[in-house]
Amino acid sequence: MIIGVLKEIKNNEYRVSAVPSGVAELVKKGHKVYVEHDAGFGSGYTDENYEKAGAEIADAETIWKASEMIYKVKEILPAEYKYLREGLIVYTYLHSNAHLDMTLEMLNSKIIGIAYEDVTDKNGKFPLLSPMSELAGKGGFLAALHYGQSVHCGRGILFNRVSGVDTPVVTIIGGCGNSGLGAAEIAASLGNKVIILDVDKEIMDEVKAKLPSNVEFLYSNRANLLRCLKETDVLMNCILWNKTRKDHLVYKEDLKLMKKGSMIIDIACDDNGAIETCRSTTHDAPIYFAEDIMHYCVDNIPSAFARTASIVLSNSTLPYALQIANKGCEKALKENEHLLKGLTCYKGKLTLRETAVKYDLELVPQEKIAQEF
Ligand SMILES: NC(=O)c1ccc[n+]([C@@H]2O[C@H](COP(=O)([O-])OP(=O)(O)OC[C@H]3O[C@@H](n4cnc5c(N)ncnc54)[C@H](O)[C@@H]3O)[C@@H](O)[C@H]2O)c1
Repeated sequence: MIIGVLKEIKNNEYRVSAVPSGVAELVKKGHKVYVEHDAGFGSGYTDENYEKAGAEIADAETIWKASEMIYKVKEILPAEYKYLREGLIVYTYLHSNAHLDMTLEMLNSKIIGIAYEDVTDKNGKFPLLSPMSELAGKGGFLAALHYGQSVHCGRGILFNRVSGVDTPVVTIIGGCGNSGLGAAEIAASLGNKVIILDVDKEIMDEVKAKLPSNVEFLYSNRANLLRCLKETDVLMNCILWNKTRKDHLVYKEDLKLMKKGSMIIDIACDDNGAIETCRSTTHDAPIYFAEDIMHYCVDNIPSAFARTASIVLSNSTLPYALQIANKGCEKALKENEHLLKGLTCYKGKLTLRETAVKYDLELVPQEKIAQEF
């Protein structure tokens, strides 16, 4: 198969989908891999590193036109729509339920879109999402350390246990998941009082065993949440939110309970989602204030740690890229129900239920498509 690895064009996106060792694995199996000039630059890999791994360096247009599978990191941006064509496989984070325009472009152009974030494993977890979530949770807490500073519009609180000063409180909604646990590990290691709100008692018990005693666990309900809002210095939202939900966990009104100038770090960053006042932001302009509360809602936090993130991403996405390339897309999807879960659209048909429900578009279930292969 001819595979194209692109340089990401999204604002401040420095990750690359395949690091040189990943490219070498694809080449070893007999596939032709194009890598865009400087695709690895932001993660510290040179064109020469990729050439040594067996790739051919080319420009974006050549790669989009020549490739059978585009292997990238972020969703398809408007400048890339012109390259979409029937049967082209695009394997990436698509987040189609957050990008109606892109979804319609994918359907009109009849590409095959496979979204990393929806691929599952045998436990029903999301193996291509979880490694990035952990980094996002950790990076989100580090952002709190940064933007909490007086010189960065914060209240001037050092999120650390300092003698003679109240210990800062960090509340993490959905704290037992991948991003929440990542955030809790660092926040707790600095001595903060960490409160985790979650709904899964079994996982709470597991996580409790891994974290120190300055982490408290509460069942996530409205009463506990409102109580936490009053005392918290940083509220982190780490919930995998159902995109079809119309309600919120934290309403605009609720922000009045919080201390003026305190922070919300919304890792999930679903616009108008679990946090009503959330709108996603970029690394260039990461924060804004709503109801006197600072909001940080960057939707590609791991890009700030591009080298680490690219290595983790490449290693986790490669096994599926190899299946698609070795077997052909249809056979790979038919034989792997977990990969099939990532199928967002197939040649003009929308196959991802959440996106179909959210935008009231016709759904053709993934299993039905696979039966026709
Ligand atoms: N901003 C970024 O750069 C970035 C990067 C990666 C992932 N994410 C996003 O972060 C979000 C979380 O991902 P994850 O992998 O950590 O999810 P996860 O499924 O591992 O964790 C979610 C947790 O929320 C808990 N939960 C569910 N409903 C709850 C409720 N009502 N109250 C409290 N807890 C509840 C679950 O029990 C679970 O422990 C996703 O939306 C993902 O897309 C963002």
